[in-house]
Amino acid sequence: MGDGSDPDVQLEARLVEQDSFEPPESFVEQANVSDDSIYEEFEENWPQSWERAAELLDWESEWDEVLDEEDAPFYEWFVNGELNAAYNCVDRHVEEGRKNQAAIKWEGELGETRTYTYQDLYREVNEFAAALRGLGVEEDDVVTMHMPMIPELPIAMLACARIGAPHSVVFAGFSADALATRMNSADSEYLVTCDGYYRRGDALNHLEKANEGLAGVEHEVEDVVVVDRLGEELPHELDDNQHDYDELMSGHEGDRVEPVTRDAEDMLFLMYTSGTTGEPKGAKHTTGGYLSYVAWTAQSVLDVKPEDTYWCAADIGWITGHSYIVYGPLALGTTTMMYEGTPDYPEKDRLWEIVEKNAVDIFYTAPTAIRAFMKWGEDWPASRDLSSLRLLGTVGEPINPRAWKWYYKHIGDESCPVVDTWWQTETGGMMVTTLPGVNEMKPGSAGPALPGIDAKVIHPDKEEVEPGQAGHLTIQKPWPGMLRTVYNNDERFISEYWEEYSEPDEDEWIYFPEDGAKIDDDGFITVLGRIDDVLNVSGHRLGTMEIESAVVGVEGVAEAAVVGGDHEVKGEAVYVYAITEEGTEGGEELRERVVEGVEDAIGPIARPEKIVFTPELPKTRSGKIMRRLLEEIANGEELGDTSTLRNPDVVDDIQQKVQSD
Ligand code: WT7
Repeated sequence: MGDGSDPDVQLEARLVEQDSFEPPESFVEQANVSDDSIYEEFEENWPQSWERAAELLDWESEWDEVLDEEDAPFYEWFVNGELNAAYNCVDRHVEEGRKNQAAIKWEGELGETRTYTYQDLYREVNEFAAALRGLGVEEDDVVTMHMPMIPELPIAMLACARIGAPHSVVFAGFSADALATRMNSADSEYLVTCDGYYRRGDALNHLEKANEGLAGVEHEVEDVVVVDRLGEELPHELDDNQHDYDELMSGHEGDRVEPVTRDAEDMLFLMYTSGTTGEPKGAKHTTGGYLSYVAWTAQSVLDVKPEDTYWCAADIGWITGHSYIVYGPLALGTTTMMYEGTPDYPEKDRLWEIVEKNAVDIFYTAPTAIRAFMKWGEDWPASRDLSSLRLLGTVGEPINPRAWKWYYKHIGDESCPVVDTWWQTETGGMMVTTLPGVNEMKPGSAGPALPGIDAKVIHPDKEEVEPGQAGHLTIQKPWPGMLRTVYNNDERFISEYWEEYSEPDEDEWIYFPEDGAKIDDDGFITVLGRIDDVLNVSGHRLGTMEIESAVVGVEGVAEAAVVGGDHEVKGEAVYVYAITEEGTEGGEELRERVVEGVEDAIGPIARPEKIVFTPELPKTRSGKIMRRLLEEIANGEELGDTSTLRNPDVVDDIQQKVQSD
């Protein structure tokens, strides 16, 4: 089944040619936002216009001021407002008489399903909040979660939100070392994890890895809660400070915990992300601004309505899942889907089977997934009824027009708008995208900045680029969902995001996301990708420095450079160039140890695609490794200027090595 040989054959000439698309009339008629005056409204009344987002929530006390710019760029939003995020995502929907509506619909990889109504979610969140309290978790204690896609993850997040304990979720695919680094950085004394989960039908031991991570935590860890996902499949023993989730919960049956009143600016959660240095940074997100922002963007961009079945097929371990599986959709009181497993298990129509079975209305995924679907062929989605779909979205990396059109045709049947949403861990929510009921769509170009978002593409001299020219994407006004700082590191917050373009003396603050972009006559922005040493592998952000330090940590490796090479499905893949120590042979055995070193330091997502051992790395006279050249070599491209190299001879040698295996 499935002729995935040539995606162009799967698209008719008509579609291949077309470069802009109007949103379908039937969609516009019912869209949450369908009037283009919204852009003007935001502009004329900024920043008061952002009250529209905050008004989607229930506040215990109203804010005095929308935006406080006094201590920029440490902005404050909805000053002195008070609210609780869990109350907004759960209780109020129960109170509004929708307690029997599904809040979370979960499907395990083996096919088992669970549905939590808002009432069920209310009960579980309360009981777990009581359990955490019982363990001694207090307001402002950071609780770490290292969990895969099981319902106990959002339950634990909401339980934390209820008692005002910020969470820090570490993606389940990250290694033990990565877990330890994040717990150390956040001084986190509590961990919620699980025994294991299923991957391609196999039971995977997760607790072993979590325990290894715990061994690397420098301070005392008070308590660990372990969800039993695998039962008989994986018998496990718990240490003295480790508690089985079900047993713990049975001691709190029927318990209710008053939602703690939080200031709008109180931290809701931390999310670690990769940057230019080897150390991940903890983006601090707040209760009022963040929750308002994700509720508003889920409503206006994803067109989420309470009666929808909405599915963002990302992992909650990344910001996409925080904002658009958990907080945005639940704040709006919709039904949010969760799937535990891989998209091609047991067959390549697994996702479409889930869409069909649950009559999913809205589907949001990453271009890397779409490129995999294209490879697998149109017959897989064609074998399922996808007519329930109303809107499609993508996020995480640039989408090439061919993949966009394939998605539009073969998943959306040319009747669903596609939103290509540019944003980052740091922005909290979407920033650049079309509004599906308002704008036309141009495949490959994300769209205009959202209402209220001041995005400009500029030259190093800060002048805006001419249409069609490449420059740097910048955001020139604050927005409610923005990170407030890098956790425990205000200096790094300034140096990473503001230093490049701001004029502190003139109190002019410009946020630089470190992406390159182009802009066209209509203000549509095409994001070209990172300009720093950060890779985007399958929509996941990986710092080259983190990978390099893992490689250099392998015995026998003297020096290493990591770059991204083009990859048909992953977008970018990890290429490692390594110099071996004298006396060490750069062979298969060392290659395996390098792979292992990277997987231990970060996780399988960072697994190198190619490892090239070389006696030297191309360096400039000042001793800087020329990564650009290494990238060109990885991609088999013609090499740019090599005249500034100290050692131009090494280039031929490396090129031959890359081509030969
Ligand atoms: C980086 C942020 C946003 C949640 C997932 C990734 C790239 C993201 C797009 C898009 C082109 C995109 C950027 C950005 N990116 N969305 N629609 N078009 N590039 O979050 O891990 O913080 O990565 O992903 O390079 O800076 P993240």
